[in-house]
Parts: sequence; structure tokens; C-alpha cells
Amino acid sequence: MWIFGWKGQSGFSARSTAEEVTEGIDAAGLTAIVTGATSGIGVDTTRVLALRGAHVVMAVRNVEAGKKLKESILKEIPSAKIDVIQLELSSMASVRKFATEYIDSCLPLNILINNAGIMAPPFSLSPDGIELQFATNHVGHFLLTHLLLDTMKKTARESNREGRIVIVSSDGHKFAYSEGIRFDKINNEAEYNCYRAYGQSKVANILHAKELARRLKEEGVNIMANSLHPGEIATNLGRNNGLLNAISNSFIKYLLKTSSQGAATQIYVALHPQVKGVSGEFFKNSNISETGTAPAQDEELAKQLWDFSMKLINT
Ligand SMILES: NC(=O)c1ccc[n+]([C@@H]2O[C@H](COP(=O)([O-])OP(=O)(O)OC[C@H]3O[C@@H](n4cnc5c(N)ncnc54)[C@H](OP(=O)(O)O)[C@@H]3O)[C@@H](O)[C@H]2O)c1
Repeated sequence: MWIFGWKGQSGFSARSTAEEVTEGIDAAGLTAIVTGATSGIGVDTTRVLALRGAHVVMAVRNVEAGKKLKESILKEIPSAKIDVIQLELSSMASVRKFATEYIDSCLPLNILINNAGIMAPPFSLSPDGIELQFATNHVGHFLLTHLLLDTMKKTARESNREGRIVIVSSDGHKFAYSEGIRFDKINNEAEYNCYRAYGQSKVANILHAKELARRLKEEGVNIMANSLHPGEIATNLGRNNGLLNAISNSFIKYLLKTSSQGAATQIYVALHPQVKGVSGEFFKNSNISETGTAPAQDEELAKQLWDFSMKLINT
């Protein structure tokens, strides 16, 4: 429990920070992409990966903000290796452009952290005509992972080091529509509920990791895929929703995790030796955890989502 900081099997708790869960870990020689690195827990994820020696590529939609953050991290960690590349996840053209730029750079890729997200905006469609939360939180990351997978496989083979794909979901997956994913109603504005649609996109994150893990295992590839809930942190996530924004800026923020505590689980899953060989799991507070609902555990739904997403990215 958060207030008491009870430790789980890993020896870490909800109170553990990103620094604590990576203490003594040398990430030199590893290259990582972090999406949504300009705000919230993406910032501390980038900073602590760099602190441990990883080369971090910030995949961000606001390049100026990315460059500013890079400069501030360099002041604190002069040895930090950081690049900034533009990525707008709600646009498949932008995701394809990012992937081409990345592949052309010939950088290896050991770690992909699909962290960016939006929560509970009013209904709108992405440039590709997909409900914005599903497009940003799931489809953009699904396409990104798909396009970078060969680079990750090559890196894992040549370096003989395990690759890790870390997909940031949320306990908000429990708010999803009862069927988990409404394949036939993704763009149905009349029945849109901003919280349920957020939950739906976060169920998709969990199922994406599960099905990806299953496929990688079947293929015998040395890459692990896991999803997680980072905890509750006062970030900019509520910016598109008056109620959430007010809550994040009220006294409640003092009861929530700090940004470094919020970044801990994803950086633990990305770097910690305890996670070696672990795939298809859901993590919370830097420990393996149960997902909260039947759809999030449904392997058939995961396969259905995979086929649905493949069709979306190929249209
Ligand atoms: N905060 C929490 O309590 C909480 C709880 C559970 C799960 N999460 C998950 O944690 C992750 C990080 O959220 P956060 O709390 O750190 O929120 P945040 O402060 O709002 O940061 C989100 C990041 O995602 C980026 N982003 C949003 N839409 C994007 C797009 N279309 N293309 C590219 N980047 C985009 C944002 O870029 P800009 O800065 O340019 O807008 C920002 O850098 C999300 O996946 C969220 O669902 C958070």
C-alpha cells in the first residue's frame, strides 16, 4: 500500500524511486526510446535512464520542449547521451517518419518505452480518423513497435542482450467498457464516454503487451514485452479534462506519488535484472501484479485486437 510503502517480492514498493530501483545498474551500451519524454513521468524516465548510462532517444511531439529538457538533464548529468526526434503518435504518417529517421540513423535499439498518453479529452478523431485516445495511446504505439521490431531483433541478436518493450498502461483499464474493446464502436461519438474510452485504450496497452510477448516467445526472439500501471502521479495528464485538471492541482497532489516514484516501475521493468526473461506480465509498484478485469486477461481478445490493429495500420 502506497502510504505504508509495503515492499513486494522484488524488494521495492510504491514509495521506491526510479533512482532506487536502478541503484547499481549499469545501462552503458544500451539504447532506449522513451515516448512522451517531455512531461510527467517521461521526464524522470529519461533522466534516470541517462543517469545509469543509457543512450536515450526522446520521442516527442514538441521538439523545442524536448531540446530544453535535454539541456537541463545535461546540466545535471554532463555525460548524458540524449537525442530528440519528433513523434506525433496520433498521426500514422508521423510515426512512420519517426521510424524511418530512427532506422536511417543506424542506432541499435535495446529498450522501447511506450509511455506517452492522453486522458479523457472530449471526443475527437485523429488525423487518420480514429478516436483520439485509442489512436494516441494504442494505435500509434502499436505501429511504432511494429516498425521498430526488426531493429530490436537485430540489436538483441548482435549484442546478445535481451531487448525490452515496456508499455505504460494504467489501473484506469478497469474503467473500460464492459467488453473491454468495442471494435465496432471505436468511433461512435454518440456513445463516447471519455473515461471509458481511456480505459479501453489502456486495456489495449495490456493486451498489446500480452499478445506481443506470446508472439516473440513463439518466434524464439530474445525480446520481452510487459505492461504496467505507474501509480497515481500529479502530472499534466488531466490537461484535457477540467475535472481531472482541478483534482491534479488540488491538495490531492500531495497524497500522490512523486514523478520519480511514478517513473520507477517502467524503469524497473526496462532495466532491472530481476525482470530478465519475464514477458507478458503486468507490473505495479515495481512488482508483478494482477490485472483487474477479465478483458485485460483475455487471450482471445488480445489476438482480436492484434488483427484489428494490423488492419488499421495497413489502411
Ligand atoms: N499520471 C498518472 O497518475 C498516471 C496513472 C496511470 C497511468 N498513467 C500513464 O502514464 C503515461 C504518462 O503520463 P503522464 O502522467 O506522465 O502524463 P503527461 O504529463 O501528460 O505526459 C504525457 C506525455 O505524452 C505526450 N503525448 C501526448 N499525446 C501525444 C501524441 N499525440 N504524440 C506524442 N506524444 C504525446 C505528451 O506530450 P506533450 O507534453 O507535448 O503534450 C507528454 O510528453 C501515460 O501513458 C498515462 O496513461 C499515468
